[in-house]
Amino acid sequence: MTPAQRTFPFLAASQFAVALAAMAQSLPAQGNLDTIPRLVEQDGRHALLVDGAPFLILGVQAHNSSAWPAVMPRVWPAVEFLHANTLEIPVYWEQFEPDPGEFNTSSVDMLLSQAREHGIRLVLLWFGTWKNGSSHYMPLWMKLNPGLYPRIIGVDGRRVDSPSPHSVAALAADTRAFSAFMAHLRAVDSAHTVILVQVENETGSWGSVRDYSPEAQKLFDGPVPQRLVDALGASTAQGTNWRAVFGANADEFFHAWSVASYVGAVAAAGKKEYPLPLYVNTALRDPLDPGPASTYESGGPTDNVIPIWKVAAPAVDILAPDIYLKGDERYRRVLELYARRDNTLLVPETRGDAEAARYFFMALGHGAIGWSPFGLDYSDSTPGAFGVPRVTEATLAPVALDFRLVEPMMREIARLNFEGHLQAVSEPEAEHMQKLDFGRWQAVVTYGAQPFSRGRDGLGNPKPVGGALVGKLGENEFLVSGESCRVDFRVSEPASTLQRDFLRVEEGAYSSGVFKPTRIWNGDETDWGLNFNTEPRILHVLLGTY
Ligand code: DGJ
Repeated sequence: MTPAQRTFPFLAASQFAVALAAMAQSLPAQGNLDTIPRLVEQDGRHALLVDGAPFLILGVQAHNSSAWPAVMPRVWPAVEFLHANTLEIPVYWEQFEPDPGEFNTSSVDMLLSQAREHGIRLVLLWFGTWKNGSSHYMPLWMKLNPGLYPRIIGVDGRRVDSPSPHSVAALAADTRAFSAFMAHLRAVDSAHTVILVQVENETGSWGSVRDYSPEAQKLFDGPVPQRLVDALGASTAQGTNWRAVFGANADEFFHAWSVASYVGAVAAAGKKEYPLPLYVNTALRDPLDPGPASTYESGGPTDNVIPIWKVAAPAVDILAPDIYLKGDERYRRVLELYARRDNTLLVPETRGDAEAARYFFMALGHGAIGWSPFGLDYSDSTPGAFGVPRVTEATLAPVALDFRLVEPMMREIARLNFEGHLQAVSEPEAEHMQKLDFGRWQAVVTYGAQPFSRGRDGLGNPKPVGGALVGKLGENEFLVSGESCRVDFRVSEPASTLQRDFLRVEEGAYSSGVFKPTRIWNGDETDWGLNFNTEPRILHVLLGTY
């Protein structure tokens, strides 16, 4: 038995070779077998096509140590309770390659087969060279050889707990392993249960802005690659080395380029095996008050180095923000910074507590293809740690509300967003009214509106928990839904004397893309605007004037 087999005896590679081939044959199909998920862009709007149509990721990310057969029974009930349609979950390099060049696909196969049983899609997270800026998921045989797979050196000459992006051996090892992982997915996932893959996890370094090892220093003192100079329109008039071209930003930009080039090479190799959309997640810097690079994770795709990542790592399709920041303004600013024509907006990690669940609507309103709170499973993560409460149904309830509402019309919402016909907002901290313009009509959203009082007199909910979404279906026809809010309409033209008339308000549900009404709202249900509490309700509204 090798040391790795002793560590993971029940997952030894040899045990699975035969079972694997059998499993690849026997797994039930899910969706169109010919259509690999892909990203599309149109007029600056984006969609993830799954089985050929826009798909909205109503995601949940499992805790870091949940992707084990013994723990998954505590993951699925949470996924189900949340009404999530996608589980984001890690694939651990240390488990996948227990000995050099020996790949153990048992965990991947276990995830695929269980996801199919539950009718849930997967986003697999490749915990490879980087995990939160460190290299703790490198296999044991790599950890035992730090000379070949070194960490970076800080400005004071001490080792920093972050892998060197200049290690040729580490890059070769990660490239080989990630390629094997993607090739395996291609072989066993014609059903496209896996719709996206995350390459590494929160890349970059805490504790040092860059690597100050002699090899890194030599590169830093050398010329900035012309590709980067051209793409950034940087001036090389003062010289060509990093300091001369980028001045005070040189250390950070050099590290971003180094990390992005490494990750880009890993991603390109994996994509060659299987061209699934790939993304990299980001430990953010404060978008309003960033401070120096020494105060955040330097080298990852923070907002200021997105253009560097785009040049260095073209095989990475999405640079995605992990949003743990508090407050409306910061949340919104992050969404704005990452929703770009050249970058699809995806929120792969975020808070899912009662205060933050409403940001699901804000993300939708910025065109997100997915939104996924972190750590909502029953695995009892960091057991006993002070201040980490157990996840219970009460913990999951706020996000479950969002997903229970949208899951039955997920395809419609994704399509409307891609077509530019959807607007969605979350209840603001201070204001209690929002106006959404749809040409001739303006939707007015209020929070904490008084019962049996007309109009726009919302006082706000006791805590901001509301959210609304309005989709334009025709010139005078709208899909309207929300939580803890009131939605009404008025004629946009301010000088108009025309009043809005609810010609017909139908409550119903979508079935295979068709809206089936179950009742008509009228009387108290429409006279004061369209009121939503915490019951999931979908309305089709036909407007007229008098
Ligand atoms: C961000 C990381 O990407 C996750 O894997 C996890 O460590 C969370 N932070 C914990 O808050």
